[in-house]
Amino acid sequence: MPGLSGKRILLGVTGSIAAYKAADWLRSLVREEAVVTVAMTEAAERFVTPLTFSALSGQAVYRDMFADEPGRVMAHINLSREADAILVAPATAQTIARLAHGMADNLLSSVILAARIPVVICPAMNSFMLSHPATQGNIRRLESFGYHFVQPGSGKLACGEIGDGRLADWDAAREKLLSLFQPDDLKGQTVLITAGPTREALDPVRFLSNRSSGKMGFALARTARRRGAEVTLVAGPVQLPDPPGIEVVHVATAEEMRREVMDRAATADVVVKSAAVADFRPSVYANHKIKKSQQGLQLDLIKNPDILAELGAKRFKRQILVGFAAESRDHAGEGQRKLREKNVDLVVVNDIMGATTGFDVETNQVTLIDYGEAVTLPLLSKEETADRIWDKVLQLQNRPAGA
Ligand code: PMT
Repeated sequence: MPGLSGKRILLGVTGSIAAYKAADWLRSLVREEAVVTVAMTEAAERFVTPLTFSALSGQAVYRDMFADEPGRVMAHINLSREADAILVAPATAQTIARLAHGMADNLLSSVILAARIPVVICPAMNSFMLSHPATQGNIRRLESFGYHFVQPGSGKLACGEIGDGRLADWDAAREKLLSLFQPDDLKGQTVLITAGPTREALDPVRFLSNRSSGKMGFALARTARRRGAEVTLVAGPVQLPDPPGIEVVHVATAEEMRREVMDRAATADVVVKSAAVADFRPSVYANHKIKKSQQGLQLDLIKNPDILAELGAKRFKRQILVGFAAESRDHAGEGQRKLREKNVDLVVVNDIMGATTGFDVETNQVTLIDYGEAVTLPLLSKEETADRIWDKVLQLQNRPAGA
């Protein structure tokens, strides 16, 4: 089941001005078909009414420790038994202190004390409250219990100050939640991924490029991070937000991509080249806009460096090297040829002719080609495809020596 669909999330809302953002997070969870139950502290109700959360979740909100309605008497025990994870957002300094000291003086803190499921805490508070040794000590203590934190963002706070303490973006919280439901089988590995197109400038306004959106490469980066890898993503010009928890290096040209990849490749356990690198670039860059007054225009192109082939020629020790191949015909033949010519461990061949595969769509249909039997995957989302590629990488890493 992809994403958070079907996951049962207990959303704990506490008394911060950022409580209104929790309503939006709830909408995002519901849109993704997660099953959400909301528990609010009394202080949270001062900022947003329970009605907002019950209307958005389609369920009554839990507020009272001593509710005596049937089915709610043991809520402080049962709520966590009926959930897969608890998300506390926003989490105030007060709630963090309560939890760090095992206090059970309201419904939410009692539920969390009785919980044996993952707890994700998203702090939101004034930056001085956040940096206070008491709060920092409480956060460290909770981390030592195995609680997960989503780092607050930086910027202008509701109190007017500028600093750390803004509730994190939903994207970061979502990634943390997703990582809870994944094996961390890439933990300890450093992964280098390229994504998107490159742009080769003709003059100050024009360039040669291709239709790559970066979606496949970004999906590889997000899924690897969720599975515990340290990820660096070298991305050509794309319209996608930088994924949280990932070092993103933005480049424009094939030359720039080559430089950034080569600087980092030696320390990577796995390199995946899903970028659609321009094979050629104009031999001359016109410093001024080329005028259309002339009748025709002949472009002289020169070959760009083949980054994957260079990595294949170097072959860093124990590194798994994965190439992609965007093909319109003879997928298996082209995949086999690139596997050998570029000296890589795996080639992922995507059919670029289908309306739902390849460039700039949400799904992909690929064949995994290594020195064993080729495996054709069904049409999947790009994230599901990425997960299957990571499974294959792990399989290649664990193959017996000499196989
Ligand atoms: O970005 P999306 O819209 O999600 O689309 C995804 C994708 C179709 C771009 C992606 O899945 C894909 O197929 N990427 C590789 C496209 C490509 O350039 O294929 P190729 O057959 O031209 O290159 C083969 C391999 O060599 C690739 O790993 C490529 O990154 C690498 N290469 C190519 C040329 C070059 N100068 N340097 C390279 O490293």
